[in-house]
Amino acid sequence: MAPRLLFGAAAAAAAAVAVVMMAATPGCGAAVPAPRGAMAAPATAVVAPSAARQATAGTPPTLAALVAKRDDLSILEEALKLTGLWDTLAKANTSSTLFAPNDAAFVDLSFWLKEGGSDKAGALKTVLGELGLIAGFPKVDPVSSLAAFLEFHMTDGAVSLKDLVAARGYTSVNGERVKLGADNKTLVDTATSIDDVKILETDIAASNGVMHIVGGVMFPTTWRR
Ligand SMILES: *[C@@H]1O[C@H](CO)[C@@H](O)[C@H](O)[C@H]1NC(C)=O
Ligand SMILES: *[C@@H]1O[C@H](CO)[C@@H](O)[C@H](O)[C@H]1NC(C)=O
Repeated sequence: MAPRLLFGAAAAAAAAVAVVMMAATPGCGAAVPAPRGAMAAPATAVVAPSAARQATAGTPPTLAALVAKRDDLSILEEALKLTGLWDTLAKANTSSTLFAPNDAAFVDLSFWLKEGGSDKAGALKTVLGELGLIAGFPKVDPVSSLAAFLEFHMTDGAVSLKDLVAARGYTSVNGERVKLGADNKTLVDTATSIDDVKILETDIAASNGVMHIVGGVMFPTTWRR
């Protein structure tokens, strides 16, 4: 039962999930009564299209650059670089969605795996060293195991929170389904001994996809024996 508590450590921080909703913008074409005495309908106003385009100037960074920029994703960054997945997320011509476990999530996992204290600095080493054992696949090297673990947190294409809610989850790069919880704010972990994963921040736009920050590391079903 102890792991449940450990994985729930970030739950309090996750209480206020920022759900970004597209505000309905009032239509520009609403009928406006002509002023009394108007002689003739004025010509339709011409809005310079360049102004609108310039407002969106500045391409967002790649997913890799987004991860690198954040102090709370340093363990994920190292893990992605170790596995080669970093290159995928740095490519401009791909489109992916990354459910990025923050450092606290990896520290929780490390703590749980070791059944003892662990800090941020040691978390990646612990996670890398132990994942192969958890997998129960002695023939698989730890780096491949880590890659499979991380790919469970990725899906092809840009999946916004809205898409996630509509689809009630996503299919990971591993081909496994990850379900969205009924509250629309958690991902349901397939490992029953582990708490569901809180979605902490959503819809962080990248030039090659979208990133959501999550407060836990998820376990693919294939890791159970
Ligand atoms: C994407 O870009 C890489 C080089 O960065 C290239 O090798 C690859 O063929 C490109 N893929 C597509 C589908 O354009
Ligand atoms: C979750 O999203 C679904 C689909 O939009 C909606 O029907 C449901 O009420 C939402 N649940 C909560 C708790 O907001």
